[in-house]
Amino acid sequence: MTPKNPDATMIGGVEVSSPIWLAPLAGVTTRTFRSFHARMGAGLVHTEMISAVGLTYMNKKTRRLLGDEGESDPVALQLFGPDADSMARGAELALGERRFDALEINMACPMPKVTKRGAGASLLGRPDEARRMVSSLTGFGLPVWAKLRVTPRNGSEAGTEEFARGLLAAGAALLLVHGRTPAQRYEGTADKDRVRSLAARFPGLIAASGDYYAPQDALYYLDGGCVAVLAARGALRDAYLIPRTNAALGRGVPERLTDPTVADRAMALISLGRQGVADEGERLTLALMRRMLSGAFKGYYGAAAVRNACAACRDWPCMESVLSGVADAQCAPLR
Ligand SMILES: Cc1cc2nc3c(=O)[nH]c(=O)nc-3n(C[C@H](O)[C@H](O)[C@H](O)COP(=O)(O)O)c2cc1C
Repeated sequence: MTPKNPDATMIGGVEVSSPIWLAPLAGVTTRTFRSFHARMGAGLVHTEMISAVGLTYMNKKTRRLLGDEGESDPVALQLFGPDADSMARGAELALGERRFDALEINMACPMPKVTKRGAGASLLGRPDEARRMVSSLTGFGLPVWAKLRVTPRNGSEAGTEEFARGLLAAGAALLLVHGRTPAQRYEGTADKDRVRSLAARFPGLIAASGDYYAPQDALYYLDGGCVAVLAARGALRDAYLIPRTNAALGRGVPERLTDPTVADRAMALISLGRQGVADEGERLTLALMRRMLSGAFKGYYGAAAVRNACAACRDWPCMESVLSGVADAQCAPLR
C-alpha cells in the first residue's frame, strides 16, 4: 500500500508522518496528552490499555479513555483481555464509538492485576490463545498489532521468535516489542539488541520499545531495522524528546520545538494543563503534570524550586500561577 501523502510512510498498514510514536501509558496517554504529542510530531499515538471486558459496560470513564473523532492524527487503540471472544467484542464496541487506525492487543503488561486475569504478558505463555486473539480482530478492516515483551533467555532467541512468528502467521501487521522480560517489569535495562535481532529476523514488522530517553536511542533501534520507536517514560521526562528525535532524523522541525526556551517549556505545560483540566479533570491532570515536572526544567537554574512549588499545589490555578511565573521570567536567562 502506498501512502496518500508523499511525505508519509506506511508502517504496519497505517500512514504515518514519522516513525517516532507515543507509547501506550496507563493513566498518562489521555486524549489531551495524545494531542499534545501529536502536535509535537509523534507519527502515531496510543490510547492506554483499555479492558475489552470493561468496554461492555461503556461507562463515562471508558468513553473518556477512548477519546473521540476530533483526534485527526493516527491513533492505535490498545485493548487487554483474557481471550479472543472478549477481545473481538471489545473491539466492536470501541469501534462503534469512534474511528481508530489500528487495533493493538496488549501482551506485555506484567502487573499481577492484569496477568492473573489471563491478560497482558501472561499471554506469552498461551501462544494459541494469543494467535486466536489476533485472528479474532482481523475482520474489522484495520491493521491488527500486538505489543509484547521479550521472553526470558534460555540460551536462544527461539521463545520470542516463535511466539512472534505465530502472531504474524495469524495476521498481525506489526509487533511492538519491549526489550524487558515480564519479570523485569519496569526495572533494569531494556535489551535493545534483542529487539534489533527480532527486527532483522522479521524485516518491516517490528517496532521497538524500551529505554528511549535520547534521540540516539531511537536512532539505534531504527538503524537496527526497527520500523518505529515508542516514546514512553522518555516523553514524560522530556516533552521535547519526539521533536528533537525527528530533527535528528533530518525532518523539518521548528526551532521552538528543538531548542525551546524556559518560557516555551512553561507555556507548553500551561496549555497541556488547561486542556487536561477541561477534558479529564483536575486530579488526573495534576498527577500527570507532577510527573512531567520532574524533568521539564532539568538543567536550568531554579528547576528544583519550580518543581517543589508545583508539588505543593493542591489545585490547577496554583500550578498555573507557578508556571506563569516561570514563563514571565524569560528575560532572566536561567540556563
Ligand atoms: C506508567 C506506565 C504505564 C504504562 N502503560 C502501558 C499500557 O497501558 N500498555 C502497554 O502496552 N504498555 C504500557 N507501559 C509500557 C510502555 O509502553 C513501555 O513499553 C515501557 O515503559 C518501556 O519503555 P521505556 O523504558 O522507554 O519507558 C506503561 C509504562 C509505564 C511507565
